[in-house]
Amino acid sequence: MAGRIPHEFIDDLLARVDIVDVISRRLQLRKAGKEFQARCPFHDEKTPSFTVSREKQFYHCFGCGAHGSAIGFLMEYERLGFREAVEELAHQAGVELPLDDQAPRGPDLTPLYETLQRAADLYRRQLREHPSSRAARDYLSRRGLSDEIIERFGLGYAPEGWDFLRERLGHDRDAQERLAQAGLLAEHEQGRRYDRFRDRIMFPIRDQRGRVIGFGGRVLGDQRPKYLNSPETALFHKGQALYGLYETHQQRRALDRLLIVEGYMDVIALAQFGIPYAVATLGTATTPEHLRRLLRSAPELIFCFDGDRAGREAAWKALQTALPQATGQQQIRFLFLPEGEDPDTLVRREGRDGLEQRLAAATPLSDVLFEHLTRQVDLASAEGRARLAALAEPLLKDLPPSLYKQLLLDRLAELARLPSRYLPAAQP
Ligand code: UTP
Ligand code: MN
Repeated sequence: MAGRIPHEFIDDLLARVDIVDVISRRLQLRKAGKEFQARCPFHDEKTPSFTVSREKQFYHCFGCGAHGSAIGFLMEYERLGFREAVEELAHQAGVELPLDDQAPRGPDLTPLYETLQRAADLYRRQLREHPSSRAARDYLSRRGLSDEIIERFGLGYAPEGWDFLRERLGHDRDAQERLAQAGLLAEHEQGRRYDRFRDRIMFPIRDQRGRVIGFGGRVLGDQRPKYLNSPETALFHKGQALYGLYETHQQRRALDRLLIVEGYMDVIALAQFGIPYAVATLGTATTPEHLRRLLRSAPELIFCFDGDRAGREAAWKALQTALPQATGQQQIRFLFLPEGEDPDTLVRREGRDGLEQRLAAATPLSDVLFEHLTRQVDLASAEGRARLAALAEPLLKDLPPSLYKQLLLDRLAELARLPSRYLPAAQP
């Protein structure tokens, strides 16, 4: 990775720029007393509750709680990483980024991004033009996907054969090396390289800026594995990627909410049927990195899980991951689907309205939390209530201090029939 940017440089940079300039290049700010106001770019609102303070060099939204420095604003608004935001700001201020020679800059990743983009373009073209892509197109239309949605998600087709991509894009050793580093070629024990994705429908996975970082590939029939994903590469990290987040933001800048589902096809079918605000983790449980990114993207998150035992367990895991980041500023809720359904099948059957009704009735995190815990104890006995307090203790301890935490503690106290000051998690 790139070297660390020294603290002094960042302090100096923030002192040099004016947050009001940075933001007013992007939003129309109105002066209101000592501060500036606008309609918040991070949530939908009619009256402006987004304020920028020149004095404090901070922005703050009274509506959704978004706040931060000029760097934070660029990260949120332009969806940049920290380093990228600092680079952008330095560029605007006309200052050079220091080159830290103890921690040299990492390798230039541009060629890898280019390789992946070329592969995505090639696969997309094959879906339309390759002589054997008929079955793939039929498959997608059987699943109800329109050309517009296929285009929006950049779906493609990797033809059969071991060397299609290698022959098209791997003209010399360097090019082949890049294909391998991009995760597009796999390697035999004897060192021979071959196309990883063959005869599959290709789902490009994009980062928040729309750059292709990897692929998922689905078979057309019942072969195994059903989906093949890019391996971990310098660009693709399964525990961080969120499929569909870029496409969702393309539809709307300020999101009211995001659904978190399990599959590629869930995201796409939901978009097809009028719910263009779903993202999927890629065959992994939700990680803290996912959560951070999700919480920055929308004021409300709704996790969709199967209603079966495995789904409940997965929800419980997601809940535990969410607790340390739950401030109550954002709503986190859970939707349990009827057995045997996934969001794809459900939206097809019930339509957008049906699914939105279910979403409206999704269970708040706090209810899932207390239902899960009270199921394990007998609230009628002192022993049971003491056990409830003991089970809840380590979970609630993880929450950052907030009114929300206090409300959860009060609820626990009520269920345990204890004054909340007796609960250890309530101690500062
Ligand atoms: P699902 O089997 O629920 O996928 O797996 P899906 O999206 O509903 O697929 P369809 O509807 O049969 O086409 C959920 C997710 O788990 C990962 C993929 O990310 C998939 O979208 N997965 C699943 C794999 O990585 N490999 C597999 O073989 C199966
Ligand atoms: Mn499915």
